[in-house]
Amino acid sequence: MKAFNDLADFSAEEISDLLALARRLDERPEPQALVGKVLALLFLNRSLRTLTSFQAAMMRLGGGAFVVSPEMSIHGLETRSGIVMDGVAAEHIHEAVPVIASYGDAIGIRALAKLNRLDEDLAETEFRSLTDLVDTPFINMESAANHPCQVLADWKTMDDLGIPASGGRFVLSWAYHPDPLPLSVPGAALHMAAMRGMDVTVLRPEGFALPGAIMDKARAAARISGGSVHETEERDAGLAEAHVVYARSWVSTAHYADRAADSTLRRECASWCVDERWFAGAGAQCRYMHCLPVRRGVEVDDEVLDGPRSVVIHQARNRMLAQMAVLHQMLVGTG
Ligand code: CP
Repeated sequence: MKAFNDLADFSAEEISDLLALARRLDERPEPQALVGKVLALLFLNRSLRTLTSFQAAMMRLGGGAFVVSPEMSIHGLETRSGIVMDGVAAEHIHEAVPVIASYGDAIGIRALAKLNRLDEDLAETEFRSLTDLVDTPFINMESAANHPCQVLADWKTMDDLGIPASGGRFVLSWAYHPDPLPLSVPGAALHMAAMRGMDVTVLRPEGFALPGAIMDKARAAARISGGSVHETEERDAGLAEAHVVYARSWVSTAHYADRAADSTLRRECASWCVDERWFAGAGAQCRYMHCLPVRRGVEVDDEVLDGPRSVVIHQARNRMLAQMAVLHQMLVGTG
């Protein structure tokens, strides 16, 4: 495996093999598998789960990892192209990325959307400009429009819990958050559920429709898997008989680069905080999923987050296991 960048680069059978490997590594640990291997981790944005789960994954497989982020005591990092570096930044990303990559057998990169231009973010312009700098195998640790490690873990979580693929109802719901969050998690989660063969509903207020390119990608995956993709603003109808409510906030696509207009619109939707009433038409078995971090009392209330529906800790642990499988495939090369 030269890259783990997008679930769409793999067949459903290949994903199934990766998840079987993740289960095997959990049940029968291989603490020598990656002895002598090094993973470089470049975080241009903050993290808790991705930062720690990749390091834990490498340690459990006998390898090592190092982390670089702008908040560490490195030279100031310039990320803009075509700039005269006469300010604070003394190191350009164009040298930093190949240098870091040269110390590892693989590199993980996190570079989130700047939310200035939707077309550039959907085209992964910045992330591609970074991965183009390296020959080393790379892992997408969250880019402008994708978070493949998160949704690989989420797929495993649903398998672990016996949530049906064919005939399973997956609701990707917008939830309130005070800040405009990128499209990476909702876009990746929508595609993952469609690829898994689920009947997917995108539930969101007016002004928060996902871009056509993201919906089209999910519909293409559903055509292959036998799933389906719909969208609605009607909460009760959208949530009826759901097996999963995956709630996440995202930027207003009607006002993508307009922070003031986004803020005004999202404040009108502050009631989109998940509580038990959301599950009235779904039933006791319906699960609440979230990639974390989550704002209590803002995106979801304590009763749901701390209650039996919530599988957020299970999802987070699966980050480590799913990434162990990716690293094993990438650095050992056999399943
Ligand atoms: N879900 C997720 O990627 O968490 P972090 O931002 O903490 O890595």
